[in-house]
Amino acid sequence: MHEPISALPMGVFIDGLTGAVNPASGHYVKRLSELREIYQDKAAFDHAVRERDDPVTYEVVEYRPENSDIYFGTTTMYPGDIGGEFHMTRGHFHARRDMGEVYYTQSGTGILLLESRNGETRTVEMKPGVCAFIPPDWAHRSINTGTEPLVFVWVCNPLAGHDYGEILKRGMRKRVMKIEGGVKMIDNIAYV
Ligand code: F6R
Ligand code: ZN
Repeated sequence: MHEPISALPMGVFIDGLTGAVNPASGHYVKRLSELREIYQDKAAFDHAVRERDDPVTYEVVEYRPENSDIYFGTTTMYPGDIGGEFHMTRGHFHARRDMGEVYYTQSGTGILLLESRNGETRTVEMKPGVCAFIPPDWAHRSINTGTEPLVFVWVCNPLAGHDYGEILKRGMRKRVMKIEGGVKMIDNIAYV
């Protein structure tokens, strides 16, 4: 079990290849079966859950001191695709519309897909050395387009919170697909 962490100066060890955080205050895994809504090809999805024994597609470890305006952690995304659609996070707006975030990629390659409230799409390449700025009120989803784990450090205000409803309900405007061995961004035909 994780202990509560007080807001005292601390050096936290982060393994940029595995996403391990030490010490840590919390950890969760997302298995494929929990993510049915976000993928386009439900037949390929059901097949993958069965045949691949419901793999962990990503996991999150956090360092959250009590009474602090900052917390951080890692997300580690395992490579793969579902019917050509690369493994991705759920994607969310922050509940607090005035709070952004930073994503600093440690290893692997991917795409950070961002969408503003009025539907504008932007992307930021994720590769080691790139520190992505996520402005307040932009939905963000990370996508592993490579063959290795994609590991990034995120830093945020703990009051930012997560609003998953919007993205789960209507999806994002773009999907990132493996097409003819390459990475292509296409329109999401299911977008409402
Ligand atoms: C926190 C944040 C990340 C994500 C994580 C998983 O604001 O953006 O820690 O929560 O990468 O993604 P979601 O939460 O979209 O499943
Ligand atoms: Zn976020």
